[in-house]
Amino acid sequence: MKIWRVIDLIQWTTEYFERHNIPNPRLDVELLLGHVLQKSRLQIYLNFDMPVFQEHLLVFRNLIKKRSAHTPVSYLTNHREFMSLDFYVDSRVLIPRPDTEILIEMVLEQQERPCRLLDIGTGCGAIAISLAVNLLDWEIVATDISAEALDVAQRNADKHNCANRITFLQGDLFEAVKELENTRFDWIVSNPPYVSIKDRSVLAPDVHNYEPEVALFAGVDGLNIIRRIIAEAPEFLNPKGKLVLEIGYNQSRDVQELIESSAMYSDCQFIQDYSGIERVVVAST
Ligand SMILES: C[S@@+](CC[C@H](N)C(=O)[O-])C[C@H]1O[C@@H](n2cnc3c(N)ncnc32)[C@H](O)[C@@H]1O
Repeated sequence: MKIWRVIDLIQWTTEYFERHNIPNPRLDVELLLGHVLQKSRLQIYLNFDMPVFQEHLLVFRNLIKKRSAHTPVSYLTNHREFMSLDFYVDSRVLIPRPDTEILIEMVLEQQERPCRLLDIGTGCGAIAISLAVNLLDWEIVATDISAEALDVAQRNADKHNCANRITFLQGDLFEAVKELENTRFDWIVSNPPYVSIKDRSVLAPDVHNYEPEVALFAGVDGLNIIRRIIAEAPEFLNPKGKLVLEIGYNQSRDVQELIESSAMYSDCQFIQDYSGIERVVVAST
């Protein structure tokens, strides 16, 4: 019987994934094999000649089948690195994206004193938890309409020892916040759903077949949730408060118009992502 070594599996599966149009085939193989063998990518590199035995081969084969059907790697491994932290993820939540780190870095750069911050649509807790880990004296509230997402966020907050500093609330945008004693915040941040339903067919199958619809789509122009947040946020912001939103690649002009046509905001600025796209908007009251 053939003995499969780590390097044989990497080469065979990379070619297999290429034939199935899986983007980044080699990286995915290394992540999946590392997951099965409980090894980091570096350890995988250092153990190219190590034989892989039947029990691991069976598990790996099953993962290859699922990845070939475009199940995202992070849902198969239940891990995603974000802001250098390891987040638990599964199909109940959107997989956090590197672009969202821009929003967090912006808050970290501007923070001067302990503040109250609200994260709307927290998903796996990526934004709220990354901020809580870095800003030990901030008070953070995080909401989501999905109870399932909040279960995942709670799990991540426990994992990163900040559950006692984040209040998780379930509800539609600001609904649950209205029940709090103090409904005002210095910062309101969100990476809301912002994909147009017209763009569904343009999304990669990994995304539109597997990630939660409620985390992705926001009406015909993708602005349904952003429009509501911009309109409602001033009621929940302290004077000189900031609203920070991640937006879609083609939405900055519409978002600027929405903010500038409201008398409640005094300023509106955009931050570009690594491809030069205006990805984050910062509006001040
Ligand atoms: C794009 S995901 C962002 C998740 C996470 N903040 C991140 O950056 O990875 C959007 C999140 O908003 C939540 N959501 C969608 N509509 C909502 C609403 N009306 N009220 C509150 N949360 C909502 C979804 O359940 C999802 O978790």
